[in-house]
Amino acid sequence: MSPVVLRLALLFICYPGLCSAIQWLGLTINGSSVAWNESEHCRLLDRLVPDQIQLCKRNLELMHSVVNAAKQTKLICQLTFSDMRWNCSSIENAPYFTPDLAKGTRESAVVYALASAALSHSIARACAAGDIPTCSCGSTPAEVPGPSFRWGGCGDNLRYGLQMGSAFVDAPIKSSRSGMQTAKFMNLHNNAVGRQVLIDSLETKCKCHGVSGSCSVKTCWKGLQDLSGIASELKSKYLAATKVIHRQIGTRKQLVPKELDIRPVRDSELVYVNSSPDYCTSNPKLGSCGTQDRLCNKTSVGSDSCNLMCCGRGYNAYTETVVERCQCKYFWCCYVVCKKCERTVERYVCK
Ligand SMILES: *[C@@H]1O[C@H](CO)[C@@H](O)[C@H](O)[C@H]1NC(C)=O
Ligand SMILES: *[C@@H]1O[C@H](CO)[C@@H](O)[C@H](O)[C@H]1NC(C)=O
Ligand SMILES: *[C@@H]1O[C@H](CO)[C@@H](O)[C@H](O)[C@H]1NC(C)=O
Ligand SMILES: *[C@@H]1O[C@H](CO)[C@@H](O)[C@H](O)[C@H]1NC(C)=O
Repeated sequence: MSPVVLRLALLFICYPGLCSAIQWLGLTINGSSVAWNESEHCRLLDRLVPDQIQLCKRNLELMHSVVNAAKQTKLICQLTFSDMRWNCSSIENAPYFTPDLAKGTRESAVVYALASAALSHSIARACAAGDIPTCSCGSTPAEVPGPSFRWGGCGDNLRYGLQMGSAFVDAPIKSSRSGMQTAKFMNLHNNAVGRQVLIDSLETKCKCHGVSGSCSVKTCWKGLQDLSGIASELKSKYLAATKVIHRQIGTRKQLVPKELDIRPVRDSELVYVNSSPDYCTSNPKLGSCGTQDRLCNKTSVGSDSCNLMCCGRGYNAYTETVVERCQCKYFWCCYVVCKKCERTVERYVCK
């Protein structure tokens, strides 16, 4: 290890059971350059747990979907949270994690759920695209089609996606002998919440046929929403996440809301065990980058407003010149010529 990596590794502690289960997100680093056609490749990321290595060896053809899901999770998480103080940027460190993702916080809850949804999503889509030899289109829906259409086309194979995806993402949690029982229940719960949001996103998509788009014949199939839609649903659940404790209820231990421990947690809510800092100031021990120098929006009233983003510290304004294509003219046939226009925009960054 280089000295830098070593120093990072000391800062990025993975508490037992608390972030080992999302270390596969680190596959983005080396995973794309691998052919995934030899079982030796499964040892590439030494942080895959033995059960995941077994799954990999038996299902090499799935691994491109796993790598793709890891990439999508990193990208979409950062896009979805770009207007928040905590903006998911630390996910880039996978397979190392800072405390914001390693201490059972609501941030880790949403990343677990998103990663779980992303993997099943990626596999379900790859099946439909014909990229995986062991699966194909989803089965024809059991519901009777409406009067105006028939089932056809090729639906996403959600069933296979859920089966293989949950086996892979839950394996490190199920096989972990160390670590808190609470962490185990919490992580399995949040993984399942991610998959439930994915299931709920299944919608009927249709294509029209018939003379010149008359739509006299319509074929429909069940398809999943894009992952960004699933991520914004999970973001709402993140904002409403419930702090839980693990306690004996009757004959077994269950997760129950800490403030209101009279009901079991709902299958639809994200849960966490440790409160997060406000992410206003930089504090590496807490996994907070702080919001100094973050862009804020002067006219917004949401989480990206200068007031909320900058935590009341105020902001600096500066102007930036952006170059855009403008006055575009179309020339027959077939090209477009544009001028370059300069425009100055005001930007605001937190003090
Ligand atoms: C795996 O793929 C690589 C690159 O496509 C190829 O060179 C190699 O021979 C393949 N290995 C096997 C066992 O098929
Ligand atoms: C990526 O591959 C390099 C070279 O094989 C290895 O040293 C490194 O540890 C790998 N990184 C990860 C995150 O697996
Ligand atoms: C996310 O926050 C970090 C740390 O404050 C910052 O460096 C980065 O630019 C932010 N990313 C986006 C997309 O705003
Ligand atoms: C700022 O927020 C306003 C209101 O939400 C929005 O219309 C505008 O596009 C935002 N500007 C930028 C630069 O994001």
